[in-house]
Amino acid sequence: MLLETKKLNKIYESGKVKFQALYNVDLAFNEGEFSALVGPSGSGKTTLLNCMGCIDKPESGEIFLEGENLTQKNSAQQARVRKEKYGFIFQTYNLMPVLNVYENVELPMKLLKKHSDKEIKDMVYKILDEVGLKGLEKRMPLELSGGQQQRVSVARALIKKPKVIFADEPTANLDSKTGEAIIDLMHELNEVEKVTFIFSTHDKMVMKHARRIIELKDGRIA
Ligand SMILES: Nc1ncnc2c1ncn2[C@@H]1O[C@H](COP(=O)(O)OP(=O)(O)OP(=O)(O)O)[C@@H](O)[C@H]1O
Ligand SMILES: [Mg+2]
Repeated sequence: MLLETKKLNKIYESGKVKFQALYNVDLAFNEGEFSALVGPSGSGKTTLLNCMGCIDKPESGEIFLEGENLTQKNSAQQARVRKEKYGFIFQTYNLMPVLNVYENVELPMKLLKKHSDKEIKDMVYKILDEVGLKGLEKRMPLELSGGQQQRVSVARALIKKPKVIFADEPTANLDSKTGEAIIDLMHELNEVEKVTFIFSTHDKMVMKHARRIIELKDGRIA
């Protein structure tokens, strides 16, 4: 088993108001999955992705990555898991606006500090070619279309060959044709690079591409 949640509970508190966003979520993902979290708005998809991705903390329950209990780790250790084993793709791309395409994709490799500049350069060029952005290395994010920006963020998530890529509604800001191209790309990279993808979506077209669909309803697995 690659990733597992056990009795995950998440409660948001704003002032005196408490809201339970996840109830005893038990899930297991094998290596190489291409799985979609679906469910109505507010059902807990983002919350679950953020908890599994160590971006948010559950109140109780456990998360295991390759048998290691992530919920027992301190925040520095969790940051290291994010840096070394996780990639993220967001609905709004979240590229660094002051960095060009090349620099955005290079960034996670620089932070990893495990490769020489020459190795990183070769990897950036290879991945940009794979996601169909060859020749756009010097462009700034704002000089790209939405679909191209999302390709940059797919490349950025993938370049370090993480164990898992979490994608929260990766096609929500794209027209259906561009969205389908992004999902096709993710699927291809999932098969070629054997990277596990867990993504959330509202989009029927995207669901069609998923190999497994997990439905959330009011914070519970339906
Ligand atoms: N920071 C927060 N403080 C309080 N409540 C929150 C917070 N974040 C999320 N919630 C609540 O938790 C519930 C689950 O939210 P979440 O964002 O996980 O849903 P979602 O399934 O991703 O929805 P959508 O499809 O709209 O993105 C919602 O009722 C939401 O209002
Ligand atoms: Mg969401």
